[in-house]
Amino acid sequence: MSNRGTDNSEERLKLAVRRWLADQFDDWRVLDLYCGEEGRMYQGVWSEASSYFGVDKFRPHSLATTVKMSAERASQQLRLDDYNLFDVDCYASPWAVARTICRRRGPGCFGLAMTSGEERGLKNGHSSEIIRRTIGASGLSDYRLLGRYQDMVIGLMLRSLGEIPGTTLCRAAKAKTARHIVYLGVVVEKSCSVT
Ligand SMILES: C[S@@+](CC[C@H](N)C(=O)[O-])C[C@H]1O[C@@H](n2cnc3c(N)ncnc32)[C@H](O)[C@@H]1O
Repeated sequence: MSNRGTDNSEERLKLAVRRWLADQFDDWRVLDLYCGEEGRMYQGVWSEASSYFGVDKFRPHSLATTVKMSAERASQQLRLDDYNLFDVDCYASPWAVARTICRRRGPGCFGLAMTSGEERGLKNGHSSEIIRRTIGASGLSDYRLLGRYQDMVIGLMLRSLGEIPGTTLCRAAKAKTARHIVYLGVVVEKSCSVT
């Protein structure tokens, strides 16, 4: 049985958040960290970027320049200053990769598009350790953390991005699907890089 997640459960909503984010910038230099086999976000919006580089651990599309690599490694090793839009369209938890980007990106304004699908953890039995570590919610069950308090937890995880040294969150947009998957767009201002 496949344990793959659903690649684009509500594509229209996902694209709307990315379009909102992209509209905050004149020039789009995109690092698409979970670019997917079909490149739906590439086809729907990122093909209009002035530059684009896609990364996927398993099946990168071939519509543009892409490489087979994990997002974790790419966010730690690539020159992030070459990009001003980062797409973190993962199956479950975007926070570790998003935090690496906020830490490593140099000064300037950039955008982060994220998919927060942690609520899926209730079904597959994975708790989200990055959330527990970041907000210190060790006493809460997965059900409360990822289900009942999902909106509050996402708000805290977003706010914690703005607590990374040199990082200020300027604007954000959020959309939630009927299956409780959350699509986020965040505009970030970075005043210094801390590695
Ligand atoms: C939700 S889909 C992304 C869909 C894609 N953004 C699109 O526009 O079609 C998640 C993708 O993440 C890839 N993936 C899973 N784990 C990964 C990782 N650690 N690093 C990079 N890609 C990963 C999967 O192969 C899958 O293509």
